[in-house]
Amino acid sequence: MTSAPWRLACVDCGAAFDAFALRYRCDCGGTLDAAPELEALRGRVSLADFDARLASRAPLDRSGVWRFRELLPPLEAGHVVTRLEGNTRLYDAPRVAAWCGLDALRLKHEGENPTGSFKDRGMTAGVSVARRLGMTRVACASTGNTSASLASYAAAAGMEALVFIPAGKIAYGKLAQALAYGARTLQIAGDFDAAMALVQQVCAAEGIYLLNSLNPFRIEGQKAIGFELLQDLGWVVPDWLVLPGGNLGNSSALAKGLAELHALGLIDRLPRIAVVQAAGANPFYTAWHSGQPVRPTRARTLASAIQIGDPVSWKKSLRGVQASGGVVEQVDDQEIMDAKAVVDAAGIGAEPASCATVAGVRKLVAAGVIRADEHVCGVLTGHLLKDPDAVVRYHRGELEGIRSTYANRPVEIAGGVDAVLQWLRQPQD
Ligand code: F0G
Repeated sequence: MTSAPWRLACVDCGAAFDAFALRYRCDCGGTLDAAPELEALRGRVSLADFDARLASRAPLDRSGVWRFRELLPPLEAGHVVTRLEGNTRLYDAPRVAAWCGLDALRLKHEGENPTGSFKDRGMTAGVSVARRLGMTRVACASTGNTSASLASYAAAAGMEALVFIPAGKIAYGKLAQALAYGARTLQIAGDFDAAMALVQQVCAAEGIYLLNSLNPFRIEGQKAIGFELLQDLGWVVPDWLVLPGGNLGNSSALAKGLAELHALGLIDRLPRIAVVQAAGANPFYTAWHSGQPVRPTRARTLASAIQIGDPVSWKKSLRGVQASGGVVEQVDDQEIMDAKAVVDAAGIGAEPASCATVAGVRKLVAAGVIRADEHVCGVLTGHLLKDPDAVVRYHRGELEGIRSTYANRPVEIAGGVDAVLQWLRQPQD
């Protein structure tokens, strides 16, 4: 699709490998970037072309990932496995903005992707490369969303999917998806980090294609969140982009994509990126503030999607956040669940991990890091229905250790219309 040469490059030592070499790490152990030679793209990528494709009916133009294909891995159209992912709404959220102390806030709802999370953007790229490589089996470890997405895209591609999930630690909606889309689903005793270590060993031993964000092509697809967000804004660059951080693939991707647009002269500045971690799963936050490398921790948070103690992509994310002049923040589960109630009650709705974004915005505004009049966009990463359990338990006041500040308790009424009318006509508290 593009004639720019691509290669894999080690984030640690800079060693380069063939673009489609079957490897996820350098010999030195460093993670890899899949990188186009930007000089070869100069003058050949145009925002007007990206915009023109919005009016097209061709599947590759309608996909919110492949629409930006000059900046994506060079594949033949026949290799692309797409569910027309992306094309998610960018909401103006005035009530959420007011709660955060901002004049305005826009939220890009990545939960509106085909399987309900941002992972579909990375997965279309990863599974398409798997097809290009002739792979028939794909695998991942997951806190739930990656496995749901992998299962769906593997099914679409006619590949066998194997997913490793930490038993009892993923939300039911996500487990349901992996099973429904036909993935072989392995619930392992242990946490996500243990599942991540295991899947790498199994993939190496069996020649199964690994589709965690350790796979650099996953990151390439996820870059399109930033491309599409800027396209939604008419290519006006906001002051801040805020998103949650777990394994740190997504923040790496967002930063990389925007840096490429900037290097190509297509945007004139970079937005500052703020990564928000759950306080119970905060190795990146700790590293950021101590200036030390990430030290694995035992993670514990209600936001199960980001319950990760040993993030694989932290160096890429660090590089990106630093280059953008960004920050790393943490929020506790109370802050996350309250932010979630506010996002949900605005009629937008998202899963707990996504709402770390909004909790983080509020905290950064209160701390004076983000000014009230700045142009802020947040990414909501997953759909509300991924984790209905968290919602119902919050509103019933049943979440251990959490005050249900904005509870909307369900009411039980025995009796007929008179009882209902009596209840309805009571003054609300
Ligand atoms: N939000 C949601 C809803 C997620 O599912 C994840 C990650 C993140 C945020 C964090 O993104 O890892 O790129 O920093 N979920 C992965 C999974 C780990 O397995 O579904 P990240």
